[in-house]
Amino acid sequence: MNQIEFATARTLLRTTCFLMALAGSGWMGAWAQATATTLLVDVDHRTTTSLNGNWHYLVDAGGLNLYGLDGIVRDKTYAQDRHPVLVGERAGSQEYDFATAPTLKVPGDWNTQQPTLFRFEGVVWYEREFAHVRQDGMRTYLHIGAANYRSYLWVNGKRICQHEGGFTPFDCEVTGAVLDGKNSVVIAVDSTRQADGIPSPSYDWFNYGGITRDVSLLDVPTQFMDDYDIHLSKGATDELSGYVHVEGAGSGVPVRLQVAEAGLDVTSTTDEKGKAAFRVTAKNLALWSPENPKLYRVNLTAGADQLTDEIGFRTLRVEGTRILLNGKPIFLRGVCVHAEAMQRPGIVNSDADVEAIFASLHDLHANFARLVHYPHDERMTRAADKNGILIWSEIPVWQQVAYSNPKTFALARTLLRDMVRRDRNKASVIIWSVANETPDRQDRTEFLSMLAEEARALDPTRLIAAAFLQPNTEGKNKVLTDPLAAALDVVGQNEYIGWYSYVPSVAESISFTLPQKPVIISEFGAEAKSGNHASAEHRWTEDFQLDFYKHNFNMLANIPQIRGYAPWVLKDFRSPNRNIPALQDGFNRKGLISEDGERKLSFTYIQKIYAEGLYGKAE
Ligand code: GCU
Repeated sequence: MNQIEFATARTLLRTTCFLMALAGSGWMGAWAQATATTLLVDVDHRTTTSLNGNWHYLVDAGGLNLYGLDGIVRDKTYAQDRHPVLVGERAGSQEYDFATAPTLKVPGDWNTQQPTLFRFEGVVWYEREFAHVRQDGMRTYLHIGAANYRSYLWVNGKRICQHEGGFTPFDCEVTGAVLDGKNSVVIAVDSTRQADGIPSPSYDWFNYGGITRDVSLLDVPTQFMDDYDIHLSKGATDELSGYVHVEGAGSGVPVRLQVAEAGLDVTSTTDEKGKAAFRVTAKNLALWSPENPKLYRVNLTAGADQLTDEIGFRTLRVEGTRILLNGKPIFLRGVCVHAEAMQRPGIVNSDADVEAIFASLHDLHANFARLVHYPHDERMTRAADKNGILIWSEIPVWQQVAYSNPKTFALARTLLRDMVRRDRNKASVIIWSVANETPDRQDRTEFLSMLAEEARALDPTRLIAAAFLQPNTEGKNKVLTDPLAAALDVVGQNEYIGWYSYVPSVAESISFTLPQKPVIISEFGAEAKSGNHASAEHRWTEDFQLDFYKHNFNMLANIPQIRGYAPWVLKDFRSPNRNIPALQDGFNRKGLISEDGERKLSFTYIQKIYAEGLYGKAE
């Protein structure tokens, strides 16, 4: 693609997105307003009422109670939470009843809770009652940690919001609908894969549907802090800067920042957009690092709103092909992690789930985790902050998505913004990834270059990356020529030399020509059924997987700009594409650990490599 084509494509995509946004404020205005969501931050440090627990549910196969035949969202069916007329009064038309329906646990995917829903992809309606006491001068929100894939929410029969995206939180203001005393909330979740969605219908992990992360109710003052970013000023270790945004405020609202342990107590005021900027000297800060994951208690006050957070301060930059943390070159000893629980079936959404993953990371002597292929539960990034694990966080632009569709681009941009907004104050997150294994094509390069630009504008303090498909082959040399690499700070290179191509013993004869930037081998692995042993030539055995890693680490040691490893993958995970009976049985078996917690030979091998620093140089 030449520069003119590039510029033309970019203008076209930008214009179309702008027109779509304009249209949304016009004839769709009322509808769009009725369905707007926002994203509150630091919710886990606010006072909330948990709505986790048993929710009644009704399966709506075909989704006709949600979309009707015209595809327009219907408010008059299950959303009204009515009950059947049994005797006497005029027979009512509704033939459903949440009150006597079975229940599903929230949070939790429906697939692993209800055998009849294991492979169900469609619409399930959830309902529960909750009590509330209205307070003058307060606004009430429902916070949903994540629901996969499209969600529609009503309170007391009134449509409040809708959201698309299965892995990012959303908040719906219910101030105008919530009553003193008893209330009813109904959420319809549609896990159907969407051709214009992110991800698209094609992906190699299990489509866990439902309200998969926490739900809570919270009250905030009429003017409240809904976004902030406090970090070390670029190139400094003795100065903090950033901003606090106060929703509902105009200019002149005082905002106070206190970091008592660092002797900081400063006040700024909001500008006409409600944003208060900060820049303050902060001497002798203990910098956050994997070795010393120091977190400071930060208190923010804006009018009647108060927030507390735990924030680590560190510097991060690229210098040539090195990654410098607090001015020192680092090497990332990691692993890829899907959001599947280690100790039970289903998607990660609890403290126990997160503790089990971090126990494995600790035993692996890892200092890094690539959270694939979507933003994980916030507990993961909180735990990474506390445990000193560096994080690669990613939006699910996986292989093929509708790169020429402006709606898909707008969705990808929203997911990116929400991922950054939720975790921008977590020192452990060092990389925002905009994609995984996408085709080298003009529309995709335009799409992702704009996303990378957006990520850098949103957060200039972190590194922007993407993971690339195995490069083209020139004889025994793999050459990455993909133009997208130029838009990134860090290149993630996936490779399966010895599994999807060649045999493991060929690996040492393979060379790579990669960009002169920091490179992370963001995926490499082979499948092995735990307990399956034979000679190393036998695929699907632990011996083969071990042999794969031995040859691969030798091969990768010859690539000077490698600054990290993320073997694919910590644990065998469910995928509908993996159907060899007795070997896969619906699981992708590249895990270092089986779904039953059995550590394979490769786990022990990589544990040793990381413990003894046998591969990989920080500079
Ligand atoms: C791809 C992809 C993963 C997939 C893996 C595999 O590189 O990024 O999502 O599961 O390879 O084939 O096992």
